[in-house]
Amino acid sequence: HCNQASYEDVEVHGLDPLAAPSQQIWGYETSWGSFAQFTKVQAQQLLPKPKNLTWEEAASYGLTYFTAYRMLMDQCDIQPGDRVLVWGAAGGLGVFAIQLCKIAGAQAVGVVSSEAKGELVKRLGAVDYIDRNEFKGMMRKGGEDPDEETARFKESRRFSKHVKELLGGEPDIVFEHVGQATFPTSVLTVKPFGKVVICGATSGYNLDFDVRYLWMRQKQIIGSHFANAYECYKANELIERGQIRPVLWRTMGFDGVGEAHQLMRENKHLGKISILVGAESEGLGRTAEGPGAIRAEVG
Ligand SMILES: NC(=O)c1ccc[n+]([C@@H]2O[C@H](COP(=O)([O-])OP(=O)(O)OC[C@H]3O[C@@H](n4cnc5c(N)ncnc54)[C@H](OP(=O)(O)O)[C@@H]3O)[C@@H](O)[C@H]2O)c1
Repeated sequence: HCNQASYEDVEVHGLDPLAAPSQQIWGYETSWGSFAQFTKVQAQQLLPKPKNLTWEEAASYGLTYFTAYRMLMDQCDIQPGDRVLVWGAAGGLGVFAIQLCKIAGAQAVGVVSSEAKGELVKRLGAVDYIDRNEFKGMMRKGGEDPDEETARFKESRRFSKHVKELLGGEPDIVFEHVGQATFPTSVLTVKPFGKVVICGATSGYNLDFDVRYLWMRQKQIIGSHFANAYECYKANELIERGQIRPVLWRTMGFDGVGEAHQLMRENKHLGKISILVGAESEGLGRTAEGPGAIRAEVG
C-alpha cells in the first residue's frame, strides 16, 4: 500500500504517521512512478497477500478500501443501526463503504448513475440505491445566481426526503468524495449531530454550502486521508477472512493502461480495474481456497 513516512520523523513513532510532516503518498506525491515491474517500498508498507486472492485481485483494493475503512470505522465510529448515505457507491471507494456498513450492522443507501450500478450496490448489501440522474438539478456548479440556487436547493431537499424514506430516517453519516457538486446536499441531508466524512473532490474542491444547516443542527464535517499501518492491517484481516471482498470489473494487460484510465475518466467502470504488470495471465497467485473478488458486470 502507498503510505510513506520517514522513520526519522517523531510523529511516526507512537503518533499518527499520516499527520507526520514527512508523510507522502507513493506513486503520486513522489516521482517513483507506478505500474512498475519493480518498486522500492518501506517495510511498514507491506501487508500479507490474502492467500485466496489472485495477484490482480490482491492488487485492486489497497488504496480505496483502506481509505473507506478509516473514514467509517475510525473517523465516524460507525455503530450497528446507523444509517449511511454513500455517494459513488459502485465506484472504487463506494463498493467498500457499502460492504463495511453491512458488516458493521449499519444500513446504507448508495447513490449511483445507472441501474446496473444500482444492482451491484444492492448485491453488496445496500438496502437500496438512488439514481442521481433523477436529481440532476441538485448538483452545485458554483456561481449560481439566487434564483438558480433556490431551484437547486429545492432539488436537494427533494433528494434528502427520498434518502430519509429509503433509510427510515435521516443518515447518521454521509460518505463524501464527490465534492463541489454534492457537498451542499450532503450537509443538508445528514441528520442533526450527524457526520459528513470527506476524502476527495472528484467534481471540484472549492466547496460552498449554506453553513446555517451545519451550525444550527450541530453537524460535523470530518476530513480523512488514506489509513495508518494499524488500520491497513486490521482492514486487510477482513479481506483475508473473506468478510470484505474486492470488486473487480476488468483485468487488462500492460498495454491497457491508457484505455483503463479513459474508462475511468468516462465513469464507465464499476469497482476496480487491474493491470497485469509481471503476471503472464489472469488467475495466478492464489494459494488457498476461499472467496475471491466479486466480479462486477455492466448491463
Ligand atoms: N484521500 C484519500 O486517501 C483518497 C483515497 C482514495 C480516493 N480518493 C479520492 O476519492 C475520489 C473517488 O475515488 P474512487 O476511487 O472511488 O473513484 P471512482 O471509482 O471513479 O468512483 C467515484 C464515483 O463517484 C461518482 N461520481 C463521479 N462524479 C460525480 C458527480 N459529479 N456527482 C455525483 N457522483 C459522481 C461516480 O459514481 P456514479 O456515476 O455511479 O454516481 C463514480 O463511480 C477521487 O477523487 C479520489 O481521488 C481519496
